[in-house]
Amino acid sequence: MVDQRKLPAQEIYVRCKTAAEVARAIKTMVIRGAPAIGVAAAMGIALGMRKSKATGTQKFAAEFYKTCELMAGTRPTAVNLFWAIDRMKRVFAVAAQAGESVEQIKDRLDREADAIHDEDVASCRAMGAFGAAVVPDEARILTHCNAGALATAGYGTALGVIRGAVEQGKRVTVLADETRPFLQGARLTAWELVRDGISTTVITDNMAGAIMRMGQIDLVVVGADRIAANGDTANKIGTYTVAVLAREHNIPFYVAAPLSTIDLETPDGAHIPIEERNAREVTHVGGSQMTPAGALVRNPAFDVTPHQLIAGIITERGIFRPPYTESLARAFAERVAAASH
Ligand code: MRU
Repeated sequence: MVDQRKLPAQEIYVRCKTAAEVARAIKTMVIRGAPAIGVAAAMGIALGMRKSKATGTQKFAAEFYKTCELMAGTRPTAVNLFWAIDRMKRVFAVAAQAGESVEQIKDRLDREADAIHDEDVASCRAMGAFGAAVVPDEARILTHCNAGALATAGYGTALGVIRGAVEQGKRVTVLADETRPFLQGARLTAWELVRDGISTTVITDNMAGAIMRMGQIDLVVVGADRIAANGDTANKIGTYTVAVLAREHNIPFYVAAPLSTIDLETPDGAHIPIEERNAREVTHVGGSQMTPAGALVRNPAFDVTPHQLIAGIITERGIFRPPYTESLARAFAERVAAASH
């Protein structure tokens, strides 16, 4: 995987040979972004089990569940992680129930991880095609963090919507919030969009309000780490601030995310676990310390945007509108119905 901590200065690839190395890569943010974390965890489980020396299914099963636990302990907020692990567990249970051999189960786990990857790319593309409808020609679009190809199996969610609009011939310009403290916007979103030839202006997070007031932002599109049943959305810290500013300035605020990011078992945002990361991400920029020794530091990695501030949730199955409790539940019911036909 490309080491996202090093971009854009260096394009370095990290080769993971064990499940523990994949778990570490997720935890230390070599790879990040909700859908990418899910794909990496599934592949990490498949890799770990491929390397297993167990010959009997009982020992193999014990190793499998331990590996799932290892992945589940990496990061708490993005629900795609737990969703992907559950898919791997379901496949494992079906194979074990059918009395398959260890080798057959290994193949099944590989295939499931590949399917999770491929489905994510397809979801992003579908999201892009649906989402393009809310992007006016010549739109000036603000995005926060990185919800691009790097954060998914490819194409992106929020950046997928932007790419979809460009593919439909719309001329757009993007404002990328730098996204303190990890700088996903300045480093990763700008890197992706510049490579695509899409006009991109990086701003510091505290500039968004002033630029909205100047009338120079038409639309906000962000990704998500977990969307609760009522539409409350956890995303990178600072997203909530952008949503409040967008409401004040009458600018539509959209969330783009696959159904794998929607968690109907979490009733509202207050129930979403928010990761607190190392203080060093705040105190240091590169190798230099910015704060005096002794200053206390907070570093919640995500915040929750209340559903009232969200104009629509763009998914691979269309754009869902308020009231989200009904529209999101319908989205899942339709999916189950489609799968059973
Ligand atoms: O801490 P990160 O970089 O993993 O957080 C990423 C985000 O908040 C993204 O906006 C979100 O995961 C959506 S990615 C398509």
